[in-house]
Amino acid sequence: MNTERAASAEDVEKTLRIEAGRVDERLNACLRAGGCPPGLLEAMRYSLFAGGKRIRPVLCVLSARVPVRPDPDLADAVLTFACALECIHTYSLIHDDLPAMDDDDFRRGRPSCHKQFDEATAILAGDALLTDAFALAAGSAGPALPAGRVLRAVAATAKAAGSAGMVGGQFLDMLYTGGTDQSLEALAAMQAMKTGAMLRLPCEVGAVLAGASPETAGALARYGVALGAAFQITDDILDVAGDAALLGKPVGSDSAARKCTYPSLLGLKKSREIAEQHADRAVAALNGLEGESAALLRGLAAYVVNRVF
Ligand code: IPE
Ligand code: IPE
Ligand code: MG
Ligand code: MG
Ligand code: MG
Repeated sequence: MNTERAASAEDVEKTLRIEAGRVDERLNACLRAGGCPPGLLEAMRYSLFAGGKRIRPVLCVLSARVPVRPDPDLADAVLTFACALECIHTYSLIHDDLPAMDDDDFRRGRPSCHKQFDEATAILAGDALLTDAFALAAGSAGPALPAGRVLRAVAATAKAAGSAGMVGGQFLDMLYTGGTDQSLEALAAMQAMKTGAMLRLPCEVGAVLAGASPETAGALARYGVALGAAFQITDDILDVAGDAALLGKPVGSDSAARKCTYPSLLGLKKSREIAEQHADRAVAALNGLEGESAALLRGLAAYVVNRVF
């Protein structure tokens, strides 16, 4: 039993709203022309400002507040880095929806980028968001945020997003698509890469940017790993049992494509149990950490498995 408090669902939702609003404002300020052709910028902004939950940047901002309440200048720099993570995530969604991948026509409640524009524009909007994200992340260094910390966080970001992380996981997801039977171990490893890496990352980056102790950083990383597993299993469940209007993306897409998912291997009930276990593990990882931000992160674990979008 955990002695530390978890924030209520109401407080978690309120925090998500407030922090996501700050992320949107900063992204809006950062994603300006600056030499980018208007048609490309339009596609990038179309997907970026379509109403994503902003979980990854919010995780980064909250994780940076666990070791110490950052001074306003450090918090401001962390927010910029957090926005870079959302750019990378949005790129991954644009590419994930392409006909050559999941071939999904809706995302975040509107036509997918390649439906609204065309495939070439969607591919390039993704490429641009990914690449520009690194400029944004590197630019967060300054008087309030030492360049050495930013360098470590940038390296962690490249690793999580790249071949041994999200992209590698997406490759395995495609490899496992089409009905070949996979073991539960293979599925879990694939999901840890395609989704888990980009959920662990903001927790790790938050710790690095805030100069957390190795113990706190380790706890946040373990939290992120468990949260990532709970997150993707819930995403798989929502593809079976969710409401497309609430989700803003199609349901039934995984089974139509014969994706390897938790529900396809184990059914809904068992999948829900496993998602809950991971959420409990995420909460347990934060044992010993006090304060409002840790409480919010605990509450977020419950939010992730109870969400409807
Ligand atoms: C969807 O991520 C893709 C997965 C990794 C499952 P989110 O559910 O965080 O999507 P947005 O950002 O809120 O649209
Ligand atoms: C995608 O997983 C994970 C990414 C790296 C984008 P899914 O393919 O299940 O995500 P959704 O359901 O399309 O959002
Ligand atoms: Mg996919
Ligand atoms: Mg998909
Ligand atoms: Mg899915």
